[in-house]
Amino acid sequence: MSIPADLDSETDEASETRPPLVVAVDGPSGAGKSSTSRGAAQALGLRYLDTGAMYRALTWWLLHRGVNVRDSAAVAALAAEPDIEIGTDPGAPWVRVNGTDVTAEIRRQEVTGAVSAVASVPQVRALLIAQQRDIIAGAGGIVAEGRDIGTVVAPDAPVKVFLTADSAERASRRAAQTSQSTASTQADQDRRDRLDSGQSAKADDAVEIDSTALDLAEVVDIIVRLACETRRQAGLPQPRQQST
Ligand code: DC
Repeated sequence: MSIPADLDSETDEASETRPPLVVAVDGPSGAGKSSTSRGAAQALGLRYLDTGAMYRALTWWLLHRGVNVRDSAAVAALAAEPDIEIGTDPGAPWVRVNGTDVTAEIRRQEVTGAVSAVASVPQVRALLIAQQRDIIAGAGGIVAEGRDIGTVVAPDAPVKVFLTADSAERASRRAAQTSQSTASTQADQDRRDRLDSGQSAKADDAVEIDSTALDLAEVVDIIVRLACETRRQAGLPQPRQQST
């Protein structure tokens, strides 16, 4: 990605006094939030938080314990029990539950099929949102992705993006990463979109990016420019950018 020379001019003094940059990236599953959030975090020299991975980690632990995830009272009662830790390096994200690395396991179909039920339990959200706010507050600048970052988790984030893509395109991107057909991926995706709709919202001040006809680098570039422009308008130093 090419970076305008005037956007990379921060002094050490400025970096000590600038308020940390928070970029909120929300949108439905399969819109490309993870790749673009990681890419933008790397380009801007920020940390990265995948909040969906935290809901997945709790779901993994509940399934592992044999808990019926449709029993919201049982889920609520147990939600605080596991210790969920998450890494914020955009180059190598990881998630641990009680010290066990579950980074790969949380992407399995059993977890994907069960996580919406867990994420809809209010006690679960209260716990994980508090943890997410602590991580964001301590990060010194971060790109956080999820469904409610711009509206609930970090409503004061100066940069908010709502990333979409049309349903068929999202399904075909997802199907290309799995052994499932596009048709069955789209049916699963539509079901999850419905289940997640109560927890998902576009902030009024979010910039909507439709990634249907864009590639990864183009979407990352839009987010980086948005972050630079927002800080320029606020009279703040530019983020320290990394070459990509
Ligand atoms: O983005 P993902 O597919 O990894 O998200 C997993 C689940 O968690 C999905 O059902 C939506 C839910 N989620 C949520 O409710 N709030 C968030 N901030 C992030 C994800």
